Amino acid sequence: MSEENKAILKAEGLTKIFSSGIINKEYTVAVNNASFELYPGKVTSLVGESGSGKTTVGRLILKLIEPTAGKIFFKGQDITDIEDRDTKKEYYRQIQGVFQDPFSSFNPLFKINRIFDILFREFEPETKNREELISQSLEEVNLNPDRILDKYPHQLSGGQLQRLLIARALLLDVDILVADEIISMLDASTKMGVLNLLVDICRDKGMAVLFITHDLNLGYYLSDDTLILHEGNLVERGATTKVYENPYHPYTQMLFDSVPDIEEKWDRSKEFIPEQIIEAVEEFYQNNDEEGYKEVEENHFVLMSILETENYK
Ligand SMILES: Nc1ncnc2c1ncn2[C@@H]1O[C@H](COP(=O)(O)OP(=O)(O)O)[C@@H](O)[C@H]1O
Ligand SMILES: [Mg+2]
Repeated sequence: MSEENKAILKAEGLTKIFSSGIINKEYTVAVNNASFELYPGKVTSLVGESGSGKTTVGRLILKLIEPTAGKIFFKGQDITDIEDRDTKKEYYRQIQGVFQDPFSSFNPLFKINRIFDILFREFEPETKNREELISQSLEEVNLNPDRILDKYPHQLSGGQLQRLLIARALLLDVDILVADEIISMLDASTKMGVLNLLVDICRDKGMAVLFITHDLNLGYYLSDDTLILHEGNLVERGATTKVYENPYHPYTQMLFDSVPDIEEKWDRSKEFIPEQIIEAVEEFYQNNDEEGYKEVEENHFVLMSILETENYK
């Protein structure tokens, strides 16, 4: 079976354009024509600077927002335009998001045990040994059930709430976990623990994890596959070792150059200058004849020219 057939989720030409203003409409192309796949048991990191469109990709995948163009396939089925309540619910049952700001994922008026009750009622009404399962999943993410279940969300730290969301994913045994910049909420002592947990869960349960980060080192450390996002364009994607060891797109090259090596003294000449990048990227697109993505080596794709979004106005 080819890799292609095994993807749990496939995005094709995913595009999100936000419009604002009533009289003079302004458009923001947050994500432009992004195509990628997520695989069971693999961590895929989505790497890019602030504002590059990472969160938007995550929200599109989670179906919290609708794409302007493009398609999403889940287990081979086109789920882009599903409206039917049951089909939507079935999808939401299979995917879980963990966000930078986890407070927004919880109803502040409900204690944690109530939140779990609602979860079971909504998704798994037949389950008998709820308490045991809840305790198990909490312990797996290093939370003490006795200290957590009787609390309100505001009584817990951001890191604890993120781990609760991971526990929720474990409980539901979801197929896809989207983790968006979760690291900033974690204190140093639990940081690596939670990240390793994420990788273990991914491997052991065969979950696909989309790990969204602006931290290149973390991406390298954690992920099997890497997606590099630059101003809404997915400029490079493929096996993490290949993308990191042999970056091809000028943006990726500059991104990697700009990361100060811990061993090295900070080299000012290597500083990240936006104008230089824009110029280098434009030159790169002009100087090659290829269109769209090119497979420069096996499982390593590079964007050779900007894929124009269809007219949306
Ligand atoms: N709801 C929205 N309405 C208008 N513009 C938005 C909205 N959400 C995001 N954007 C814009 O889309 C771009 C990408 O944002 P985002 O996906 O949050 O980037 P990242 O997560 O990489 O920092 C930014 O220019 C941002 O201002
Ligand atoms: Mg973001």
